[in-house]
Amino acid sequence: MKKFLKWAAIVVGLLAVMGFIGFLWFIPPFSLVPPAEFSKPLIAAAPSTSDITDDAERMLAERGKYILIVHDCSGCHTPLGDQGPKYDEYLAGGGKGVFKGYGTFTSRNLTPDKETGLARRTDEQVNRVLRSGLLPEGRIAYHRDMPWAVYSNWTEEDRHAVLVYLRHLKPIRHNIPPDVEGTAGADPVALETLFGSDNAIH
Ligand code: HEC
Repeated sequence: MKKFLKWAAIVVGLLAVMGFIGFLWFIPPFSLVPPAEFSKPLIAAAPSTSDITDDAERMLAERGKYILIVHDCSGCHTPLGDQGPKYDEYLAGGGKGVFKGYGTFTSRNLTPDKETGLARRTDEQVNRVLRSGLLPEGRIAYHRDMPWAVYSNWTEEDRHAVLVYLRHLKPIRHNIPPDVEGTAGADPVALETLFGSDNAIH
């Protein structure tokens, strides 16, 4: 019996080693994929500006597009499906960030839709969100989700360029559920866990 157990252990051990080698053999060689390959779908998803006939406006929109891509606005503002970002609904909003004690915030529809998107906002209202986090309803956007504190370092021209590009997108009707605010400050446990791993962005 002891001998049998010994052989069984050797066989199981060998199978485990072979399985691991097989695993290493079949996974794609990450180190051989150039980093640019990973960002290709993201860049391809941003609609072109080539149909803007006015040269000055097209240049501005192109700059706005560049800023939007490098700041990955799409990472939060493009809805997520089972297969990853739904790029055919580029920037239509819906990404949820759950911050314990602070609330659940939903990224908003940045396409120029009249009822659910940015066509409802004036240029100044959008600029104010990007400059100082002030949302049109008078509340400061939660900065750990919508990172406006980073964008407040942009020049006015950069903000304008982003706006020109956003106004140029295809309008998509996508209603965003209202934020659910938490009870930060009133809940000491929530404050304790604030810097822990209990926060999640979906
Ligand atoms: C990490 C996630 C995240 C990123 C990145 C992000 N946003 Fe947001 N954005 C949000 C969330 C969440 C809200 C809603 C904030 C709230 O309700 O407190 C929001 C709100 C907004 C609003 C307000 C829209 C309205 O209805 O008035 C604008 C404008 C906006 N974002 C633009 C941008 C732009 C432009 C970028 C990139 C430069 C960007 N966001 C990047 C998460 C994000």
